[in-house]
Amino acid sequence: MAGLISEEIIGRVQDSCDIAEIISGYIPLKRSGRNFKTLCPFHHEKTPSFMVNPDKQIFHCFGCGAGGNVFNFLMRHERMEFPEAVEYLAKKAGIVIPQKEIHDKQTLSLFQQLYKINELALNFYHEFLLNDKGAQDARDYLQKRKVDTDTIKKFKLGFAPDKWDSLINYLRQKNSSLNLLDKAGLIVAKEKSTGYYDRFRNRIIFPVWDVKERCIAFGARVLDDSLPKYINSPETPVYVKGNNLYGLNFSKEAIRESDFAIIVEGYMDFITVYQAGIENIIATSGTALTVEQIRLLKRYTHNVVLLFDADQAGVLATLRSLDIFLEEGMNVKVTSLDSGDPDLFIRKFGATKFKEMIKGASSLFDYKLRLLCSKYSPKEIEGKAKICNEMLPTINKFKDAILKFEYLKKLADSLQVSEEALRIELAKIKEPRAGVLKTEEPRTASNLKVVEKTLLKLMLEEERFIQNFKEKLEVADFQDPTCRQILDLMFDFVSQGKEIHPSKLISGCSDELLPKTIAQLCAEEITYPEDKDKIFHECVNRLKKDKIKNRCKELQGEIKLAECYGDREKLHQLMHEYNQLIKG
Ligand code: CTP
Ligand code: MN
Repeated sequence: MAGLISEEIIGRVQDSCDIAEIISGYIPLKRSGRNFKTLCPFHHEKTPSFMVNPDKQIFHCFGCGAGGNVFNFLMRHERMEFPEAVEYLAKKAGIVIPQKEIHDKQTLSLFQQLYKINELALNFYHEFLLNDKGAQDARDYLQKRKVDTDTIKKFKLGFAPDKWDSLINYLRQKNSSLNLLDKAGLIVAKEKSTGYYDRFRNRIIFPVWDVKERCIAFGARVLDDSLPKYINSPETPVYVKGNNLYGLNFSKEAIRESDFAIIVEGYMDFITVYQAGIENIIATSGTALTVEQIRLLKRYTHNVVLLFDADQAGVLATLRSLDIFLEEGMNVKVTSLDSGDPDLFIRKFGATKFKEMIKGASSLFDYKLRLLCSKYSPKEIEGKAKICNEMLPTINKFKDAILKFEYLKKLADSLQVSEEALRIELAKIKEPRAGVLKTEEPRTASNLKVVEKTLLKLMLEEERFIQNFKEKLEVADFQDPTCRQILDLMFDFVSQGKEIHPSKLISGCSDELLPKTIAQLCAEEITYPEDKDKIFHECVNRLKKDKIKNRCKELQGEIKLAECYGDREKLHQLMHEYNQLIKG
């Protein structure tokens, strides 16, 4: 069953069935105008907000945001995997899926092509690290850091040669298109002339997989202390930052078994701790955790221990971002090292000591309180107020009312303040989400920037807008990552001369957020106040203005820097660009 089913077959299967008919086989549908309505099978409700649109062949729930095409419905309702859903419907329609389909790149979806090209690249880097003369320094480096060969093989670590075109040449030989390499973020367009060069050079390669073991991106580390330490893949249609956790594909079973996950920051930390036999671990890759990542982890456990490197600046800010774990009903413990990072610790003290340290982690509440007490003076009135100010939002995030009030009592006790006063202050925090982290908002269509959402909807409705958009702006001009993903897909469809049909756009993508967002965009009925062309141009102009504003800000920074360095040629060039922009 595993393996890739060609886009052509997937399309035929989709054309052969009707989403309303399939869904009505599981739940009763009632007609409502052109659509069907019913009670949502994915959340509890009393009035129907689950909608099936036969024109667009999508479903969407206005209550819980579930949505997608017929495959997404089966995947969610019947817990099928994507290929299973395709096979199930194919069988119903009497379509035979050739057991050994021979794929050429035209028949694979963009997603499948990207997974495949990443796989080719990772094998190239991996082979090079294992066998090539040119990777001796890298092998020495890893040996020095006690990463053994079995580990290199398990995590398919690689090395990117110290040349501008090794990967390009290798993949060109394999008939991969530059366009695809570019889309995968493996190469970078030259600025001053035409052509491309390899993005990763003279670096150790860490392939990044999703939970389904598909290679979606790369991290690349230097061999010495030069900067930047890491270069990472840019966002691509298959790689949305903040939707994935490094290592979860290797550790999910161990996490489920031990019923907790250790969270570290670095790739290197993950790898050496795992190598030492502690397998229930994941790495954040150095960025603040998002709701999507936490929900992903929640499928395997509700308990996490966060392990911070020593002397971290901004621990308090990081702690604030941890409140989202509480909102998701997770138990969070925190601990930090006295010196160095987890990798150093495990090499120096071994796995037993490491496990002891993890066992000794404090609850988020205790850890935060201790940190605040060392920062402010808990014996003075002002200090008490500051500490409470920081602690109350955390307490407020506990889902369980008993926990909430027990912690309130504990805080009152530790600081010797009145519980009553704390309760009054707690009640003042009305909007639990306000002012915390932007990233904690789930990225659904309703909070995409209105301009981007409107443009996407217009382009989904009328293809001529896509061409029009392409002439004026590019994918990177969108702020929202899911919006960029959708736009990328639409451009890809157009460039292959395929008709844009929302339900077809979704196929081949097994990420949940994208189908949901597309379905939502289609489902929301907008009565346009003015004619579509006018709205389209207004939105495009807004984005253009944003783009100029952002570039101006960037330029101001670069100009200051050039002034500092006394780089007159660069300064002149930057000023010129700046003046052009302001005039334009
Ligand atoms: N990171 C990054 N870009 C950088 C620095 C760090 O993307 N310029 C990310 C990487 O995913 C890295 C993580 O942040 O793994 C944590 O950073 P750090 O602790 O410095 O990296 P380690 O992988 O632990 O590297 P090492 O121990 O070899 O210094
Ligand atoms: Mn580290």
